Amino acid sequence: MHQTKIAGIGYYVPKNVYTNTDLSHFMDTNDEWIQERTGIEERRFADRYDETTTTMGIEAAKIAIERAGITAKEVDFIVFATLSPDYYFPGCGVLLQREMGMGEIGALDIRNQCSGFVYALSVADQFVKTGMYKNVLVVGSEKHSFAMDFETRSRNVSVIFGDGAGAVVLQPTDEKGKGILSTHLHSDGADAEILAMHYPGSHANKWMKDKPAFPDQELGGLFMTPEILASGAVLPYMDGPSVFKKAVVKFPEVIREALVANNLTEKDINLLVPHQANLRISQYVQNLLGLNDDQVFNNIQKYGNTTAASVPIALCEAWEAGKIKNGDLVCLAAFGSGFAWASALIRW
Ligand code: UT7
Repeated sequence: MHQTKIAGIGYYVPKNVYTNTDLSHFMDTNDEWIQERTGIEERRFADRYDETTTTMGIEAAKIAIERAGITAKEVDFIVFATLSPDYYFPGCGVLLQREMGMGEIGALDIRNQCSGFVYALSVADQFVKTGMYKNVLVVGSEKHSFAMDFETRSRNVSVIFGDGAGAVVLQPTDEKGKGILSTHLHSDGADAEILAMHYPGSHANKWMKDKPAFPDQELGGLFMTPEILASGAVLPYMDGPSVFKKAVVKFPEVIREALVANNLTEKDINLLVPHQANLRISQYVQNLLGLNDDQVFNNIQKYGNTTAASVPIALCEAWEAGKIKNGDLVCLAAFGSGFAWASALIRW
């Protein structure tokens, strides 16, 4: 068995900056509320027409591939994490494969929302460790802006999310003690609906059963009607306070699980890169684990919550800023819709 190292890393964020005050022109919100409750100051939104989840993923991937010292043609496998794919199907992995001129390699899409990148990293790690693949590209990318509602009814959701992409290339290493030490994946579907986009989906018929507005029909035909669109059921839904309460328990739990599994403690962490869900969540976790400011990296202030892209964007920014050095212990952790949560410990 090999160990898996991050051989190259890159990120891409669109150039369009939207401040909190910009959003207050579309809905009843304000800079003070958003900063106080989330820490977010601004976010990026992709170009409406020319950028997609895949194109942003490609920009991040190009940088990661170049830094890994390989070409796109040498990538053996793609793992693409997103909740905002270009198409309902097929996934973004095959679109990236096509656009980057890669060979007829495997491409896997991961649908684990905020913890998607850490799940993707864990899956890719298994392929590299066993020797099946030498260069695995892992991408987390989101274009949230295309599906968000910028009216006051959705303000608790639409002020939080932003667009962007991050990517890594994983390769085997035989350097003792280096690379991904372990990954830890969890889920609990008991509250699946409280952070979800219920439409479009096969659950649709069940949902419509009790709604008198929708005529009974034996087969099909009700996948997307003007009434369904008008009902708001196609918009992302989040019971924020309930998600917050669960997140502040599961984040520390899965970080400690990773430390215990490797006979390490909080003091050993050089940098924790948490999923950027809310600055208050990150600060709560930091205090609970007794970490100092230098041990935690946050950039939600600039990008908002970019879901599957948030961990690789933050990891890459931290690395580019010189906050991660050879031999450092880096901890990645994420929690979100599902609920699904995960952590990874990496000896850089
Ligand atoms: O990454 C995926 C996982 N997601 C998370 O981890 C998110 C976790 N949850 C959160 O981050 C927080 O719950 C939010 C930031 C989403 C909301 O903050 P909160 O402190 O929990 O606020 P709340 O939902 O309890 O709403 C408090 C008040 C309400 O008004 P009333 O009923 O007290 O009059 C909301 O209508 O704030 C109002 N409100 C807003 N006001 C101005 C909600 N959104 C906004 C807004 N601007 N954008």
